[in-house]
Amino acid sequence: MSDASREFECSLNQWMESISSATSIGELEKIRAGLLGKSGAITSEFRALAKLSIEEKKIIGERLNIAKNAIEEAISEQIKKIKRSIIEERLRSEVVDITLPSVSDSFGSLHILTQAMRRIRDHYHARGFLVLDGPEIETDFFNFDALNIPKHHPARQSHDTFYIDGFDDVLLRTHTSCVQIRTMQKTGIPVRMISIGKTYRNDKLDSTHSPMFHQIEGLVVDREGLTIGHLKSELKKFISAFFETEDVAIRLRPSYFPFTEPGVEIDCRYKKEGGRLRITGDGTDWLELGGAGMVHPNVFKHCGIEGPAYGFAFGFGLERLVALRTGISDIRNIYETDVRTLRYLNNIR
Ligand code: PHE
Repeated sequence: MSDASREFECSLNQWMESISSATSIGELEKIRAGLLGKSGAITSEFRALAKLSIEEKKIIGERLNIAKNAIEEAISEQIKKIKRSIIEERLRSEVVDITLPSVSDSFGSLHILTQAMRRIRDHYHARGFLVLDGPEIETDFFNFDALNIPKHHPARQSHDTFYIDGFDDVLLRTHTSCVQIRTMQKTGIPVRMISIGKTYRNDKLDSTHSPMFHQIEGLVVDREGLTIGHLKSELKKFISAFFETEDVAIRLRPSYFPFTEPGVEIDCRYKKEGGRLRITGDGTDWLELGGAGMVHPNVFKHCGIEGPAYGFAFGFGLERLVALRTGISDIRNIYETDVRTLRYLNNIR
């Protein structure tokens, strides 16, 4: 082997070594340019062939071609190797440990009204009541007439009613009492039920009114044996359960509802503590919570019930109960979607 070829062999080994020890694609591109680029080492060797004899051209040309191919192959192999190791490194560093516990504190929750409705439903289920709802679009028979509120009765004025356009007898129910009528018509008596649902009155939205709100209403009817004493006991159990205290004192104050006789207002003792109301048996003041009474005989008549029937009914506004329990003074807070308010209500529910 001539000196020149030995020298070439030596350089080739060095180039191959620098290729196999390159750690980045950029580095390899530089090596490629330095060897095979326009003024690269191998390229200049090819150019130098022109000055050689045919014999030499053949031998040296072949050697250069072999070297050039070997270099190209080594470079592309090394590029593949580097790319593979980049992927492996990413897989190693981006591993997700699915067994780690979650650190998020932003889970959603049921709305405060939904939670209250569910608690009320559970209370009455446990006491053997059916829990029902009916249509929100009603006829005035179910919303008024059947409840002993005939046309031109002054009580119709106090229920500021939304009528459906084009109808004078189809409306958005102003209370859930219609469900009581529908149930008695369908199943007769005895009956032991509550209804929970949306109701509508043409009120402006303010801190204590909303054109849409929710009512809970109970009805217990049998052929005999039900008195206002049973009503009072049932009410006390409910208030106790809802406000989670055994220490409850209630009174029934005479009032008027066309569908009851007698009708009463349900009052409950409370105390003011640190700006908040607390329902407690030794409270000095009375708070009105809802309405109730013994079912008026005309209501039974409208439901097609014949023979003796005795029973009681009671009704509460859900928003008012929730406001009292959570201590908020503006019911709009219940409907607004401010996450801070909802979170606050949720924490003190
Ligand atoms: N439905 C009545 C109202 O909305 C409430 C009530 C129910 C009163 C049952 C007495 C008995 O005003």
